[in-house]
Amino acid sequence: MPEAAGGPWPANARFGPDGLSIAGVLVEDLAARYGTPLLVADEEHIRARCRAFTTLFPHPLYAVKAFTSRAVLRLVAEEGLNLLVATGGELEACLAAGIPGERIAFHGNNKSDEELRLAVGARVWLINVDNAAELERLDPIARDAGVVQDVLLRVIPEIGAGAHRAIQTGGLGTKFGMPLRVVPGVVRRAVALPNVRPVGVHAHIGSQVLEAEPYLAEVDVVLDLLERLKRETGFQADVIDVGGGFGVAYTDERPLELDRLAPALLARVREGAASRGLRLPHTLVEPGRSVVGSAMVTLYRVGAVKETEEGTTLVAVDGGMSDNIRPMLYGAGYTVAAAGPPRDTGPLEVDVVGRHCESGDVLAHDVKLPHDVHAGDLLAFAATGAYTYAMASNYNRVGRPAVVAVRDGVSRLWLRREDAGDLDRLEVAEAAPAARPPAPPAFLVRPARPGDARPFLEAYRSVAAERRLIQTEEVTRTAALYRRRFRRSRTGEAAHLVAVADGGVVGSLSIRRDPHPVTRHVATLGMFVIATWRGRGVGTALMDEAMRWARSAGVERVELTVYPHNDAAIALYRKFGFVEEGRLVRHAKKSYGYEDEILMAAWLGEVGERER
Ligand code: LLP
Repeated sequence: MPEAAGGPWPANARFGPDGLSIAGVLVEDLAARYGTPLLVADEEHIRARCRAFTTLFPHPLYAVKAFTSRAVLRLVAEEGLNLLVATGGELEACLAAGIPGERIAFHGNNKSDEELRLAVGARVWLINVDNAAELERLDPIARDAGVVQDVLLRVIPEIGAGAHRAIQTGGLGTKFGMPLRVVPGVVRRAVALPNVRPVGVHAHIGSQVLEAEPYLAEVDVVLDLLERLKRETGFQADVIDVGGGFGVAYTDERPLELDRLAPALLARVREGAASRGLRLPHTLVEPGRSVVGSAMVTLYRVGAVKETEEGTTLVAVDGGMSDNIRPMLYGAGYTVAAAGPPRDTGPLEVDVVGRHCESGDVLAHDVKLPHDVHAGDLLAFAATGAYTYAMASNYNRVGRPAVVAVRDGVSRLWLRREDAGDLDRLEVAEAAPAARPPAPPAFLVRPARPGDARPFLEAYRSVAAERRLIQTEEVTRTAALYRRRFRRSRTGEAAHLVAVADGGVVGSLSIRRDPHPVTRHVATLGMFVIATWRGRGVGTALMDEAMRWARSAGVERVELTVYPHNDAAIALYRKFGFVEEGRLVRHAKKSYGYEDEILMAAWLGEVGERER
């Protein structure tokens, strides 16, 4: 029996006289049966990694982003790990695999309301809240689901580690989580909200970390934070989640040694909590890569070998950046071997290139293959379990590879190869004919007339009742007042405009100049459009007319205020040259709470200047 391949290869990989085998199955047979490119998973290896984590750490979660097939999710859960998801899609994959919500934690820096609803509805164990605004969105979602949701707060530990800038997540400039400085405030808020329950904090320093030291430093930062939280807010955390990122070997690096890291890390938590007078929190870890990374290999078939004018031998295989983007994205290196029976030809240094239409599609630089490497040879790349299939694409309409698991001499297909039909499944049955441009809505903007008073009031009331768009929530003025006002609706002092359609008023705008001598060059405007007529040009037509009036009346500056959430109105005003000049904080006390107002103004030019 040949020796274990060792190094970055799966635990049950052997290089024997017939070539590479995994768990007793020749990979040449797998390639013949399932085709190439092919991912081969050493199932026992994954199980052993799971057991290492459940033995060494009290609460390991598998970060499913590393590799997400249903079989792996079930296997990992069966081995006792809980699961960490980063998106609604990953959450749905776990639920579809039959994993109960109570075993799932959900993180992510930009969760949508829909994803939060899905998570809360699935009764997930933890939601790792990224920022204060997410907390505010989560609370009513939890309320509507009748849930008090346990949450961790994702904090920035100010320690970035990992193999490449793109996968260092804990440094100050990161998009993930909140700065330490704001955490006490967010904790107070979380404690005050009725439908969320803060239970601890979450941090993650990066990925493919090869040293223990950054983790210990991270623990110190987190415990310092907990001490501060206890002192300043009275909050005591029950959970600290130190994230994942445990590095594996790809070429000749030494993997992070978990059996040294784990006791050191847990001791640091224990002693650190005690010395700071904190109760001992549960420690969560979130390995992804280190569960599956070294357990899988990718098999490729060589299609062509050529030598460049510069003397480099290029070995082209039937996959590439669509099944493994890591070399191109992170400069990641891999161990590559010929997988067929050994040949005594001596080594040749080559670049392994993919089949995609760019020169950057190089899977491995300067690797040693048999001197006579030729078309038909089978190559194996080690340690391709994590973030290869998970990041695969259909670039050049190449389907994703198949994934097969081997155990005890038996292979089992985990994911079938993506075929042309799969690639076609998003096409709609028939290209829809281009829609005819809609007829311009028939409305008319004109100065208001006394007869408009009643329909105007009706429109005004309907917008007021929406409460969040204009200041007035309840219209108390009478039609008589507007009848009087609309008798002289376009003077040198003011203009009252209406947009009329279908015999009713669908929008209105009033603009009036300031009476004071030193502010007479300024006019202030207010407007509304009824809900059914928004987005149809009514606002633009009203503003057009108002600005025409302002210019003709010798107004130099027009002002207005708008609520910060009214994006459509802000965009409209910008179109007419209005710029934001400031914010009136809590300027409106509405029935539903305070509102800020944004002050916007447009400068039309000094009248004397304009005349010249
Ligand atoms: N926890 C959190 C919050 C994470 O963001 C990640 C990975 C993990 C755990 C798992 O990290 P692991 O143990 O797998 O290193 N595509 C990159 C890696 C991206 C990692 C993203 N976050 C690569 O191919 O190297």
